[in-house]
Amino acid sequence: MHRFKEYRDRLSLSQSQLKDLLNERLNRNYDRHTISRWENGKQPIPAEVATELELLINRDPRETTVISFANQKGGVGKTTSALNIAFALTRLNFRVLLIDADPQASATSALVGSDIVSLYRNKKTLDAALLKDEPITDIILPKDYELSDGRTLPFSLISSHIDLAEVDVRREPGTEGLLREAIAKI
Ligand SMILES: Nc1ncnc2c1ncn2[C@@H]1O[C@H](COP(=O)(O)OP(=O)(O)OP(=O)(O)O)[C@@H](O)[C@H]1O
Ligand SMILES: [Mg+2]
Repeated sequence: MHRFKEYRDRLSLSQSQLKDLLNERLNRNYDRHTISRWENGKQPIPAEVATELELLINRDPRETTVISFANQKGGVGKTTSALNIAFALTRLNFRVLLIDADPQASATSALVGSDIVSLYRNKKTLDAALLKDEPITDIILPKDYELSDGRTLPFSLISSHIDLAEVDVRREPGTEGLLREAIAKI
């Protein structure tokens, strides 16, 4: 018998959540009863589902990929791409931390709106971690990504603030590595 239930437990997903995830990844329309029948062995698991489960289980949670969106030119779609790719990866069950490293803070505005004021006051924006020795782990903000069907998926945000512009004008050696060093810890 396939270890379907064991796999589902390891992924900490309900039958309904696993159904949604598999449907999203495989572009299928399985219902929860099918999941149930796979789980209790009443129906054989399709090969593509078995393969997908193996992929989900074997993904090393410590393995992190950093994707940067950087371009000297303004208005070329950096923020738009970063936000949409962060959401797309979240939907595919990756754990995403979106870091807004632009002093303009457009991505931050899009996600937290006017909360930016209190985040800044409480030293929860990236400038605090890079310039004021605030631990990087303390500025990670848990966020919910809302799906059109009302479900929410969790992802994380590191907010920006205009004060981050100071990093750009600092000429001390090592300034260019501040962000890399800060995120190496997480
Ligand atoms: N693929 C796309 N197709 C059409 N319009 C787009 C696309 N991507 C982004 N845009 C639009 O282009 C404009 C600039 O996008 P965005 O703000 O993401 O760029 P940016 O590189 O982050 O800009 P900035 O340098 O100001 O930070 C926005 O109005 C956005 O809606
Ligand atoms: Mg931008």
